[in-house]
Amino acid sequence: MKPRLVLARLMTDAVMDRIRAEFDAVLPPAAGLSLDEVVDAAERHAAEAVMVTAGTRLDAAALSRLPESVRVVATCSVGYDHIDVPAARARGLVVTNTPDVLNAATADLAFMLMLCAARRANEYAIVMRDGWRRSFGMTDMLGHDLGGKTLGIFGMGRIGRAVARRARAFDMNVIYYNRTRLAPELEEGAEYVPSFHDMLPRSQVLSLHAPGGAGTAKVMNRETFGLLPRGAIFVNTARGSLVNEDALHDALTSGQLYAAGLDVFAQEPAFDLRFAQLPNVFLTPHVASATVETRSAMGNRALDNIADVAAGRPARDALG
Ligand code: DGY
Repeated sequence: MKPRLVLARLMTDAVMDRIRAEFDAVLPPAAGLSLDEVVDAAERHAAEAVMVTAGTRLDAAALSRLPESVRVVATCSVGYDHIDVPAARARGLVVTNTPDVLNAATADLAFMLMLCAARRANEYAIVMRDGWRRSFGMTDMLGHDLGGKTLGIFGMGRIGRAVARRARAFDMNVIYYNRTRLAPELEEGAEYVPSFHDMLPRSQVLSLHAPGGAGTAKVMNRETFGLLPRGAIFVNTARGSLVNEDALHDALTSGQLYAAGLDVFAQEPAFDLRFAQLPNVFLTPHVASATVETRSAMGNRALDNIADVAAGRPARDALG
């Protein structure tokens, strides 16, 4: 018997092929399934598993609507702040995520945003789209080098460490704040700063790599943006909930920040359009893991977790 699954969002071709071969699945339309549709489909199909993305918010109330047949909720994301894991566990549900497989893609996008912010990519793209047709002198439209700058990393997990490796290749100095200091072989030369507030004044570039959640909500606010050196660059590929966006906007318009690269926002997809008006911000629509290879690996990892539970094994990425 194939495990019965409800899939909330279409996946890459490779993953869809595996789902058709190995699972008895309700497949979504191109627009995906809403929460109500996931719940309905799970009930009608007596599903054992639901596979969702960060776009499906599963709070305690939503989880309580899932039928008893459901044993595992597999999210195709490393972040799981959209799922109330304790409430799921209390219902006997296994919740799994997809760690590791998106480290490189996410670090690549963080670095892309860092370069785009430092090198005024948004303004250059606007100039070219407007037809260019005016010459620039040696002092016009200058950006900044990343080489020789100090990068502060908030959250030195697997993605933070992948960003640190890229930063070293660009001759940056890397410092980091994490709840606990890493073993030397994981630090790979990065300097641990035991206090976030002490790291900020040294961070000419700051990149966030902590999960969202109660402990880190709005960790970037008026006070902490104010602690950065004037003219710092700010990058966020982690979660919008880490940032007070009014404070970020003020820092970008006052010159406290030179520029920012932002992939995540407090509200998505209806993000704060004030950021789209700022020349010194490079924006992407929450796409850090959006490569064919990585999205396939994420889908397969979610399916591996579902197969684990269906076979009575502990899920490899069980949370909580
Ligand atoms: C993740 O995997 O957490 C990405 O941010 C997508 O939500």
